[in-house]
Amino acid sequence: MLLFLALPASAGGFRLSENCPPGFERLADDVCRMVTLYDQYGSLRGRGVGGTRTGLPPRRDGFTAQQIDLGRYLFFDPILSADGSVSCASCHDPALGLADGRGRSTGLHGETLSRGAPTLWNSAFLSRFFWDARAESLEAQLPGPLYAAGEMGNNPDDLLAALRNNAEYPALFRAAFGAGSGPIDTAQVYTALAAFEASLISLNSRYDRYAHGDHNALDAEEIAGLNVFRSFVARCAECHTPPLFTNQQVAVIGTPEPEGLPRDIGAQATFGSPKLRGAFKVPTLRNIARTAPYMHSGRFETLAEVVAFYNDGRGHAVPEDEPLQLHWHIVSPELAAHELDQLVAFLGTLTDERFLPRVPTRVPSGLTPGGRSARAALTPTGEAP
Ligand code: HEC
Ligand code: HEC
Repeated sequence: MLLFLALPASAGGFRLSENCPPGFERLADDVCRMVTLYDQYGSLRGRGVGGTRTGLPPRRDGFTAQQIDLGRYLFFDPILSADGSVSCASCHDPALGLADGRGRSTGLHGETLSRGAPTLWNSAFLSRFFWDARAESLEAQLPGPLYAAGEMGNNPDDLLAALRNNAEYPALFRAAFGAGSGPIDTAQVYTALAAFEASLISLNSRYDRYAHGDHNALDAEEIAGLNVFRSFVARCAECHTPPLFTNQQVAVIGTPEPEGLPRDIGAQATFGSPKLRGAFKVPTLRNIARTAPYMHSGRFETLAEVVAFYNDGRGHAVPEDEPLQLHWHIVSPELAAHELDQLVAFLGTLTDERFLPRVPTRVPSGLTPGGRSARAALTPTGEAP
């Protein structure tokens, strides 16, 4: 009799994908391994900066397809927040470069946070997280947004109770972590979210095609911009080092705060070093044309404003009574106006959103996928759900 057949894990219509996301291949032991043309090049060490054919730093991969897909549901499900209104995608919106289009993010109750949401592209390669570099892994980063009163406002007990009492999630977690994995715990939640984040890869921009040898992928203006970018005059590549366009260090560059706001001491708080007052993690420039406004608190609206800031002279925006120790690669390059235009043109070649995740049409909680968004609503993409 049909009634006695075991129900599949997809009882409510939710089933985790068995396929690795695009850009990954599935290995014999069922884990997904990232595949990128950069694997043909050696590591950065000893090869200077700014060269096109440099390899990538170590990465997080090796998650299963099911763990990645569970993480996708969690990422878009507002069940993770205290009142069911906000999901990760509220501030890391696929339609806004996995950021939120705001200089400073908006929290659970509409409060303005002190910093902006960084993009999540290529976070698989990062060794430090947050603008002040205070977390050392994707998993260690997660309690930040989940439990901060102003962000998702939750706590571990309520989060786990909501997931365990949900009609769908217990079966989905068993599908991702094995039948004997026990009740849902925070480590599983963090692993699934980290697996999903580590699948957000952007390494196929026009710049990358140029780097791999397609000389027609960039036009003359953009190639000129690349040359300015990696020149010893401008020194951008010393910190925004290809291919990730970050060297993963923190640096004091003297960004002005928005009008009327006190200086954010940044990494001084993380490392306890006064020299790092006002230091921030060097952000990736991947998909930078998609993530305005710019800098930790969104001081600059456009890329033209950013390059003008670097060109206007070392420390020009630092008040005289501010004891900031600017990084030695922050110089006064005195670039001509056309070179600044070329730089902006080059930054536009770093856009590649081909592996944007599918926004689910519905999530296991039954709440609105994505929750409250910076835009009116998230646009679901791809097949159901
Ligand atoms: C209310 C808006 C908001 C929500 C919701 C939110 N974030 Fe963020 N996220 C931010 C802000 C702002 C920062 C930077 C904070 C800082 O540096 O102090 C950030 C930083 C990060 C970083 C560090 C990126 C880097 O390059 O350093 C990661 C990873 C991240 N968030 C992932 C997530 C995940 C996963 C979720 C859901 C569990 C989430 N965020 C929910 C606003 C948000
Ligand atoms: C000494 C290291 C260093 C150098 C050199 C440098 N940057 Fe930066 N860059 C940073 C840091 C650190 C930040 C973040 C600062 C902040 O948020 O206040 C940043 C931020 C940016 C941003 C905004 C990123 C975002 O997500 O908001 C852009 C664009 C940028 N830099 C482009 C350039 C260009 C173009 C050059 C060369 C003219 C350059 N940078 C040179 C360290 C550097």
